Amino acid sequence: MTVRADRLISEKTGEIIPERLGEEEYNRLLQENSIRCPKCGGELGAVSKFNMMFRVGVGAGGEDAYLRPETCQSIFVDFPRLYKIMRGKLPFPVAQLGKSFRNEISPRQSLMRLREFYQAEIEVFFNPDRVDDFEMFEGVKNYTLRLMEDDQVKEIPCEQAVEEGQIPNRLVGYYLAVMQQFYETAGIDMKRLRLRRLSEEEKAFYAKVAFDLEVETSLGWIELVACNDRSDYDLKRHAEVSRKDMTVMDGEDKVLPSIFELSMGVDRSLYCIMEHSFVKEDKRNMLKLKRYLAPIQVGVFPLVNKDELPSKAREVHNILKKEFQTFYDVSGSIGRRYRRLDEVGAPLGVTIDYDTVKDDTVTLRDRDRMQQIRVKISELLSKIRRFYQGEELFR
Ligand code: GLY
Repeated sequence: MTVRADRLISEKTGEIIPERLGEEEYNRLLQENSIRCPKCGGELGAVSKFNMMFRVGVGAGGEDAYLRPETCQSIFVDFPRLYKIMRGKLPFPVAQLGKSFRNEISPRQSLMRLREFYQAEIEVFFNPDRVDDFEMFEGVKNYTLRLMEDDQVKEIPCEQAVEEGQIPNRLVGYYLAVMQQFYETAGIDMKRLRLRRLSEEEKAFYAKVAFDLEVETSLGWIELVACNDRSDYDLKRHAEVSRKDMTVMDGEDKVLPSIFELSMGVDRSLYCIMEHSFVKEDKRNMLKLKRYLAPIQVGVFPLVNKDELPSKAREVHNILKKEFQTFYDVSGSIGRRYRRLDEVGAPLGVTIDYDTVKDDTVTLRDRDRMQQIRVKISELLSKIRRFYQGEELFR
């Protein structure tokens, strides 16, 4: 059995163990903390380095190749073309979403540690001499960041954090704020989110300054976004190896741009959003997903599966499914069907009952309030549309 030394030590000590220590240092920490094999309890062998890049055999000859461990490198290689497309102006961000692969020694914890995973990476190319000349900062300067300081989260307006030096410059401040806002909008509980500046030992080798956006879950604190000032490391290396000039003009300045990277783990972000959205109440479990994230928007139920109700319910369902993600359900009691809808996070449920047959009205139920209003079928679509534009069902 092979295990990751840094993770084992971290689990035993509760401390953050950098990935970049020497083998001797890991051996020492394993010994000092009397760490044994987590499976059989036996003595561990000596630590050795392992390449986490995924080797594959390509073509009939099975030639060695490696799957990409991060999505960003193609953005860096494309920089000269991207610079032209962006009309020759710095700074500019480029985002990419895709699969990455790492030969994890111990994949586990559901979506947390996978060998094949989704990354969403934003690479911001900028002139390192103009990091405070950043107009968009105005929009976030009063936004309160949750920054770790001395093992505690301190809430501090973005502008103040830059002025006091907790954040190195306005460009970094802007993107940290945007990231925090993104998770706030997605439904992450802000009391369980922090931005943590990494120490010199923890930082990746290419990073000048690094922050992790972390979220607390039942599995502990999880890194969702690695935010790294990669300086000119990448463009310099690509220029050296390809012998292609990567410098550009920024006004009067000839610069080799630096890169600020926001590298987001998509699978684990989804896990955290779901865990933070999960609410256990006396009578029900509910996935309190934000409206715009709910994969099922409206459930449609006939109160009972007999008389004219199922055919009327199908009629209503046919109207709604043209515009919304719907779920038609006839199985079990109506109470059970509401619970099922709550559990998958659907914000609305429509019930067709005996009054529907008489007066063409249905009930529209709000997941969060567990209350219903009566709505004419002819007004149902516009009512639901307005709900998804942010209007409340109850005023
Ligand atoms: N591109 C940075 C990372 O994958 O961690």
